[in-house]
Amino acid sequence: MIKGLFATHAIEAMPRVDAGEPVEGGPEGEVTLKRVLTARHLVMLGIGAVIGAGIFAITGTAAAQFAGPALIISFLIAGFACALAGMCYAEFAAMLPVSGSAYSYSYATLGEVVAWFVGWNLVLEYLFAASTVAVAWSGYFGELLRMLSAATGMTLTLPAVLSSAPLRLDDAGHLVTTGALVNVPAILIVGAISWLCYRGITQSATVNAIIVGIKVIVILLFLAVMFHYINPALWHPFVPANEGGSKFGWAGVYRGATLVFFAYIGFDAVSTAAGEAKNPQRDMPIGILGSLFICTLLYVAMAATMTGVTPFRMLNTPEPVATAISYVIGTVAPGGTAIHVLSGLKILVVFAALAGLSSVVLVMLMGQPRIFYSMSRDGLLPKALGRLHPKHRTPYIGTVIVGSIAAVLAGLFQVDLLGDLVSMGTLLAFTTVCIGVLVLRRTRPELPRAFRVPWPWAVCLVGAAACLFLFWQAFKVRWPLLMSWITIGFLIYGFYGYRHSKLRQKTH
Ligand code: ALA
Repeated sequence: MIKGLFATHAIEAMPRVDAGEPVEGGPEGEVTLKRVLTARHLVMLGIGAVIGAGIFAITGTAAAQFAGPALIISFLIAGFACALAGMCYAEFAAMLPVSGSAYSYSYATLGEVVAWFVGWNLVLEYLFAASTVAVAWSGYFGELLRMLSAATGMTLTLPAVLSSAPLRLDDAGHLVTTGALVNVPAILIVGAISWLCYRGITQSATVNAIIVGIKVIVILLFLAVMFHYINPALWHPFVPANEGGSKFGWAGVYRGATLVFFAYIGFDAVSTAAGEAKNPQRDMPIGILGSLFICTLLYVAMAATMTGVTPFRMLNTPEPVATAISYVIGTVAPGGTAIHVLSGLKILVVFAALAGLSSVVLVMLMGQPRIFYSMSRDGLLPKALGRLHPKHRTPYIGTVIVGSIAAVLAGLFQVDLLGDLVSMGTLLAFTTVCIGVLVLRRTRPELPRAFRVPWPWAVCLVGAAACLFLFWQAFKVRWPLLMSWITIGFLIYGFYGYRHSKLRQKTH
């Protein structure tokens, strides 16, 4: 029985795949995913999934409560862990261009029960991240309505009872009601984006590319304008003295790193599009590592600029980028051109945040049904999740189910509760992928690898250790939640996956 639990999927050397050739899906005329995505689409998908609530909503808290100006180092630490995991993802995604991401890689290396564990935790990364970011989107949408009301003199605001979460965690960790009814904008954005995902991968990738263009241009504009207002004195002391616990000092820098890790989540989502990439062997590493590199540069520049123009303690708001601009507006002479430029920039930032957060929701809602698709084809989840739409060729049943659950979560809960679960699930998946690369190098050294992790022992082991270190910071506080989630997962596996697994049926 134990042997069956750890049975692995056979991996054969993948032939070079070209546009239109399915790797997944049946050869007998069955509908398959479309191979249409280029390297540019993949880099855009990565940036689309990465830049979102992390930079537009969470950075301020990380600077004000934990790291101070050394937030720059927190970003570098989290970026380092992601770079190591990213190389491991690149090796796997180029070798196994299928849509199951870390789930499929674990199935091929560490066995079925580990694959189930990783697949189940990926639900936290994708489905829960979509909901988390939708909640942040709703916050920025409220800000946009307030700005429009002020500009037009009309009352355009939504009542709080219909635009915030009815449930939150109190300090003792109990779920309590807030008096609100439901977060309507969060539900609407999930609904709209699910519809797009249902319609097709090309439409989704094109909309994503437009959104990514907008958010990157606005971030570059922010950096260019704010550069003139940087006051290096605000970076001193760079690592403020510890004020107890994880507030400032190096303890704060590490705690900040676990918080801003959320900002990097998503580069691995590129790997779920491997089944739809034209030339995955060449383009997967470009998509994963290229998007990670660009986002790391932007994040470090943003952290340096935000803490260079604003005293870091003032950044503790849900919209720290807009807060930084407001602070600078308060320091320049009234009535001049600078005021107009800065006010215009602030409006653009709110739009870019809305666009940025939408693209994160989009890529996450695209990724989750594709992982379910792979799990269903292996028999671990019901067959319906592996069905493709006859016309759009998307996993449409999974898309509708995922969209509906994500909408309910987004309508009911707050960001902080969902965000920690997202980070923990993702870090477990990253750790498994790092270890999986080492295992496969030993068990199948002869397989052709279009991309090879350099110095694999060092990169994989340090990568796994760095991810576990970050995981531990959140697990210490949130372990009851994660353990409940894992228990539910194993119950589903015991009652369904274990009995229906195609691999186990073959081997028995
Ligand atoms: N990295 C994504 C974000 O920051 C999840 O929104």
